[in-house]
Amino acid sequence: MREQPYRWGIIATGNIAAHLAKALSQAEGAELLAVASRRRESADEFADAWDIPRRYGSYADLIQDPDVDIVYVATPHPFHHENVIGALHAGKHVLCEKPLTLNAAQAAECATLAGEHGLFLMEAIWMRFMPAIARLRDVVADGVIGKVGEIRADFCIDVPFDPDHRLYSPKLGGGALLDLAIYPISLSTMLLGQPDAVSGQAEIGRTGVDESNQLTLSFADGAQAHLTSSVRQHKPRTARIIGSKGWIDVPDFVRSESLVIHAAGTERRLEIPARGIGYVHEIDEVHRCLGAGLIESPVLTLDETVATLQAMDELRRSWGVVYPGE
Ligand SMILES: NC(=O)c1ccc[n+]([C@@H]2O[C@H](COP(=O)([O-])OP(=O)(O)OC[C@H]3O[C@@H](n4cnc5c(N)ncnc54)[C@H](OP(=O)(O)O)[C@@H]3O)[C@@H](O)[C@H]2O)c1
Repeated sequence: MREQPYRWGIIATGNIAAHLAKALSQAEGAELLAVASRRRESADEFADAWDIPRRYGSYADLIQDPDVDIVYVATPHPFHHENVIGALHAGKHVLCEKPLTLNAAQAAECATLAGEHGLFLMEAIWMRFMPAIARLRDVVADGVIGKVGEIRADFCIDVPFDPDHRLYSPKLGGGALLDLAIYPISLSTMLLGQPDAVSGQAEIGRTGVDESNQLTLSFADGAQAHLTSSVRQHKPRTARIIGSKGWIDVPDFVRSESLVIHAAGTERRLEIPARGIGYVHEIDEVHRCLGAGLIESPVLTLDETVATLQAMDELRRSWGVVYPGE
């Protein structure tokens, strides 16, 4: 642990920004130094709520603050690309909300720039850093359930229709694929690597984005992942990892704190609590990587982020979902 805390700046003051502000207050070695909003009043309100010394009425001003080490990008997806590129050009390390960008081309540009500048960049898929998910990876790698042949996982929430809501508006990158499916896809690629083929059906809603989707990821060794996501439907959020010698259920896998292992004729439940509100673990990973001189996380590489966006580009192409400006 270095003596000085890492100084963070948050871009945007919405829902997830507040979660990260709380997590930063629970993390070791972090100081939340600054926040920026498009409106100075929102920045002031957020800064007062979270006791943040510096507040800015524009994202550009925060990015230029010489004392900020790490910028956390918490805007809707279509703005991630511009925000990340701006922060990297200003010499900041970046943790950016998921998806890193709207499409693979934008993500690859960010990854290249981070590499050229020797700066850390990671997509904030906090699930990947939860202790229960880290344990899941180890249990599967240890062969406890044999060879994984099938993954089933659903991330479906029911959000009342509003064409201006982030999840429905094409201008704000709406749709279930980019916002929700990214979690079960990430769980699958964590365990099985990149798929050979992806296919899927979507229900396209009135605003032209996918409100629900069903995906199949096919892997070279014959394994398959069957995944669904929706902004119009509630479903249980237990992921099931099925192997040749048993299976593992991961209750509420996006924010999991337990695993239920069915193997060798027995059922074993492991309780694996997260620290604080869970987002602490992705913050720890940023600090760990910076402390080790790494510019990307080996747990969630930029190659994986770009490959997942390529798969999502392909799915959107097959559904005819295009975002403004693409
Ligand atoms: N990791 C997670 O668990 C998780 C959960 C939810 C969302 N997310 C991700 O976080 C990002 C933000 O989601 P959110 O739920 O926090 O959204 P949100 O509550 O709508 O907040 C988004 C914020 O972005 C800023 N913004 C900039 N341009 C905007 C525009 N044209 N319209 C609306 N807002 C704009 C606004 O902050 P200012 O007004 O202060 O500029 C706004 O408060 C998304 O990419 C999403 O995928 C992650």
